[in-house]
Amino acid sequence: MDSLQVAHLGPRKKRPRQTGASMASPPHDIKFRDLVLFILEKKMGTTRRAFLMELARRKGFRVENELSDSVTHIVAENNSGSEVLEWLQVQNVKASPQLELVDVSWLTECMRAGKPVEMTGKHQLVVRRGFSSSPSPEPQETPPLALKISPYSCQRRTTLNNCNHRFTDAFDILAENCEFRENEGSFVTYMRAASVLKSLPFTIVSMKDTEGIPCLGDEAKSIIEEIIEDGESSEVKAVLNDERYQSFKLFTSVFGVGLKTAEKWFRMGFRTLSKIRSDETLKFTRMQKAGFLYYEDLVSCVTRAEAEAVGVLVKEAVWAFLPDAFVTMTGGFRRGKKIGHDVDFLITSPGCTEEEEQQLLPKVINLWERKGLLLYYDLVESTFEKFKLPSRKVDALDHFQKCFLILKLHHQRVDGGKCSQQEGKTWKAIRVDLVMCPYDRRAFALLGWTGSRQFERDLRRYATHERKMILDNHALYDKTKRTFLEAESEEEIFAHLGLDYIDPWERNA
Ligand code: CTP
Ligand code: MN
Ligand code: MN
Repeated sequence: MDSLQVAHLGPRKKRPRQTGASMASPPHDIKFRDLVLFILEKKMGTTRRAFLMELARRKGFRVENELSDSVTHIVAENNSGSEVLEWLQVQNVKASPQLELVDVSWLTECMRAGKPVEMTGKHQLVVRRGFSSSPSPEPQETPPLALKISPYSCQRRTTLNNCNHRFTDAFDILAENCEFRENEGSFVTYMRAASVLKSLPFTIVSMKDTEGIPCLGDEAKSIIEEIIEDGESSEVKAVLNDERYQSFKLFTSVFGVGLKTAEKWFRMGFRTLSKIRSDETLKFTRMQKAGFLYYEDLVSCVTRAEAEAVGVLVKEAVWAFLPDAFVTMTGGFRRGKKIGHDVDFLITSPGCTEEEEQQLLPKVINLWERKGLLLYYDLVESTFEKFKLPSRKVDALDHFQKCFLILKLHHQRVDGGKCSQQEGKTWKAIRVDLVMCPYDRRAFALLGWTGSRQFERDLRRYATHERKMILDNHALYDKTKRTFLEAESEEEIFAHLGLDYIDPWERNA
């Protein structure tokens, strides 16, 4: 059909080790600097690859011999999207959402045009965000992705680039509703469905795309199908309109209000916070009082700039007493989130005595109290025991000393007070969690406090069911060898578990 095909079908002399005719040929000028191509040899063969590389270079395209970070387009022939993704996985290369996986038909069209031609759905091996909104979503010729996706989120890389929001939002709402109704089984089912979809490198546009994806049962699939067909799920709609769901959502948005209190207020007939606030017969805990007092500030999320400013505050206070202490921001902000409901910190010191370790948080609290920055605090003393086996429960609370606080953060401490605030109140109430841990447990504590909750659950489940080990925020225990496995870093814990290392920003499961 064209010269390229002829070259492909031509006699193939095996010339091993020659990785490209370009090595012998003079360098070509690069005309199209925005594109960096890499041509996959798999199923294409050395000769044809070398031919295509040379041709593309002659036409002014930049073509790399090796796969590198600068590559923008991977060109493949006779490979499905899933095969290319699998190949990338084997090479230990992450398919970033920017990386295009294209069929060789795109390249041949470019060669004919002498310039890059627009890429359409038929060229793309993996459906990416943006494709579904392109003018003519032609029926897909490429087969659906049959990726080998692990059912454990600790074996998946889940960044914040979620391209399946319309489905994951639905599952998050359904999961939350189950949580409110204390339906543990369905809660887990929906959380796992949401989590696996958050890790996909492509947008689901048809039911074919869901084939081979674990953690999606018939129920989850029927919800996906309804959203594809009708644009919304009737079940989700019903939950959003449900009085119990709405009330629980509202009540638990108050710091200090959990399921039990929400249930009580709902049963008593309350539906608004103002009625609850002004009711004379209700008794509130100290936590709930603070929750109501600073409600507006606390429901408006913490920004990264505010989190960094709190970080400075925490370090100043901690280093006043333990200059060698490490202070690490954990939780959602460590995973790269831009907003959070609080700011979490892990504190540990290599040189301090047990007594100094135990005294640090009280000293820090005392300092803030004197400075008038302490709006609320609850110090929980350590119940940590060195030789105790890790907890088997996936949602177990940890035993380190910790402090749940509400701090007064002055606007001028955020971004040097650049953003001018409304007159009057010059500060914002911020929820802060501080955890103090023994230095030799810092890797476990860091892993445990970085989250996400789903990622942590799956790590523990994986340890138990796949490795006969028990993991929690304090330690890792090997039941077969009957020993504790020590670790200086998160990487070592993943290695003990026989898992590929997953960076914090890939733990947004
Ligand atoms: N965590 C824990 N023990 C607790 C509370 C929290 O191990 N008693 C862990 C959880 O696994 C969680 C992490 O600490 O992943 C941070 O908790 P949290 O602040 O509640 O969640 P974030 O992921 O930081 O989300 P957000 O941005 O809403 O704060
Ligand atoms: Mn947090
Ligand atoms: Mn927290």
